[in-house]
This record gives sequence, structure tokens and C-alpha cells, in this order.
Amino acid sequence: MNRSKIAGIGYYVPERVVTNNDLIKVMDTTDEWIQERTGIRERRYGKKHEETTTTMAAAASRIACERAGIQPEEIDFIVFATLSPDYYFPGCGVLLQRELGITKQEVGAVDIRNQCSGFVYALSIADQFIKTGMYKNVLVVGSEMHSMGLDFSTRGRNVTVIFGDGAGAVILQPSEDANRGILTTKLHSNGTYAEKLSFINPGAHGGYHKKHMEEEVDFGYPPPDTYGEIFITPKMIADGNYYPIMEGQFVFKMAVHKFPEVIHEALQEQGLQASDIDMLIPHQANLRISQFVQKTLRLRDDQVWNNIQKYGNTTAASVPIALCEAWEAGKVKDGDLVCLAAFGSGFTWASALIRW
Ligand code: COA
Repeated sequence: MNRSKIAGIGYYVPERVVTNNDLIKVMDTTDEWIQERTGIRERRYGKKHEETTTTMAAAASRIACERAGIQPEEIDFIVFATLSPDYYFPGCGVLLQRELGITKQEVGAVDIRNQCSGFVYALSIADQFIKTGMYKNVLVVGSEMHSMGLDFSTRGRNVTVIFGDGAGAVILQPSEDANRGILTTKLHSNGTYAEKLSFINPGAHGGYHKKHMEEEVDFGYPPPDTYGEIFITPKMIADGNYYPIMEGQFVFKMAVHKFPEVIHEALQEQGLQASDIDMLIPHQANLRISQFVQKTLRLRDDQVWNNIQKYGNTTAASVPIALCEAWEAGKVKDGDLVCLAAFGSGFTWASALIRW
């Protein structure tokens, strides 16, 4: 079996910086609250009518291709992770193919809907294709345009202040050196708490969520024997029930438990210890979560990369953006043991160990 390596990496964040003080103008929040609870100082928002999840992904992908020394035409397969797709369908994978100008090749493209762990899942899927020898250049992308779908009223403040826009991409190739590349990936999920962090409407659930949520919300569904108007009802629009929802403290508690667990699982399988990690790239969910994980694993500050202060939580994009930044800063070097880890909605969580 081949081992796969990250041959090229790139990221893109929109130019527009939105500080905590900018948010104060539209909702009841404070810079102190946001910084103290999340560590976030600012985030980026894409340009409406110009930038989308796909265009940002294309910008990151072009950099990754260039650094891998390949042309976009040489990509064999696209794996695209996002929870904020341009369209409900088709997925961003095919839109990215078009954006990169490589439709002639008609290579396969798949979208991954695993939210915050989406990139690590996508990397693991791409890894299997390289390992088996099916593909030579797989483009793996995480990209999010959250700013288009957040509730900017005070009602949505617990979610909205956290999220930002951006994209990260890697080119995965077979590694010539059997000791270098992706050593292992670990993937997990538990749907028991699916609604605790979710974006339910619009959706085809037709009220299914009710038995899984403590708080009953009336979305104004027509009677069961009528057709249509289930996906999005006039009442949902009137009541503004089409935004992400999150039980923050519940998510926090699960995250600080599952991050270390899935990292240890990968380390143990490889006969390694936390102290062997040269760089941990945690999904940038909340600085407090990353600090808790760092403490649990007894890692020094220089063994963990955090950039949530600048970008907020960019969901599927956060791991590749942070990895790329760390690499560009010279903090990820040949031979280093790099650990990627993520936890998020689903709940889904995952880790990857890479010998760089
Ligand atoms: N500004 C000011 N006050 C806010 C606020 C905001 N942006 N958002 C919520 N509050 C208020 C709440 O209304 C609540 O007020 P009350 O006590 O009067 O009812 C109070 O702050 C505490 O709210 P709570 O939600 O309990 O805060 P918290 O300490 O749990 O922090 C999070 C909220 C979201 C920062 C925190 O729970 C968290 O980070 N959770 C994990 C989220 C995460 O990682 N999500 C991504 C998944 S990977």
C-alpha cells in the first residue's frame, strides 16, 4: 500500500476583517464577552455577490496545486468538505471543478457534510484512494462562507460571534518515502445529540426533529396528507427559524472529552505518545477548548497552533488554514509529527497523524 503525503497546501481568507466591536453595532454583545469565552478578536467575511464557498476554495486550491508542482488539470479527484455550500445541490465539488477550469477531465468529485470534522474526514477518504493506488493527485478542500447564513440579531449572538469565512486546501499524493506521510486517521460519530448543534431548516425533516428536541418549535407545517411547503414554510421565514442553533455548554463538554480521546487513540495505535507531537493542529472551535486539550495532553505552547483569535471558527476550513499557517511560519518541518484533530456537529470527531 502507498502512504499518502501532503504535497501542497494553501489557504484563502477574505480581505474584510470584522472585529468584535463591529458586531456590537448589530447585536447585544461585548468585545470582553467574546474574547473571554472564545478567544476570538476578529473574523473575516467574504464579499457578497463576489465570493462564495467555491470561489474561496478555488483560491486555496490554486495555491496548493502550485506548491505541489501540478496544474489543476492533473487533479484526479476532488473531496470537498463544507456545511455552507453555494447550493443545496449540486455540491461544491463540481462547482470547484468548474471554477478551476478542469471540467474537460470529468474527474470524480464528492462533498463531505461533516461540519467541523469535515476536513479530517475528507483527508481520510482521500488517503484511502491514494493508499490503494486508485489516484495520484487528490484535491482535499475545506471551505465555509458562514457570514451568509448567520442570525445577526441578538437572538443568534451565541452562534454568530463564533463563526468566520475562509478556505484551506491540500493536494494529496503517494509518498516516495514509506516512513513519511499520513500514518493513520481515526473517525468517529454519535448521532444521539444531532440537534444540539444543527442547522435544521430548510430541510426535508417534516417535523422529525421534534422528538429529539426539548424545546418544541412550531414551524407551521401543513397537515400530513398535503404535499409541498415542508422544506421551508412561510412560518419558518416569518419567525426567522432558518439559522444554526447550538447548546454551547453541552458542545463544549463533549469537545473537551472527545478531542483528547481521539488523539490518544491515533497515538496509541502508532506506538507514540502525546509528547512526541511536534505540532497539534486542533480544529479552531474555541480557544478555551484548545487550551483545555493542550493541558490534558501536557503540550507546550509551541506544540499547538491557534489562530481562532484572527479568523473565528471556520468549521471545515479551520484545520487546513491553521496547518497551512503553521507550515508557512516554519513550525511544521520535514520529519515532524503533526496531529490534526477535530470535533463538531453530528457529533462527529476525528484525528490524523502525519509524519511530515
Ligand atoms: N454576547 C454576550 N452574551 C452572550 C453572548 C454573546 N455573544 N452569547 C450568549 N450570551 C449570554 C447568554 O445569553 C447567557 O446569558 P444568561 O446567563 O443571562 O442567560 C450567558 O451569556 C451565558 O451563555 P452560555 O451559552 O451559557 O455561555 P458559555 O459560557 O457556554 O459560552 C460559548 C458560550 C458558545 C462560547 C461556549 O459554550 C462554547 O464555546 N461552546 C462550544 C461551542 C463550539 O465549540 N462550537 C463549535 C463546535 S465545534
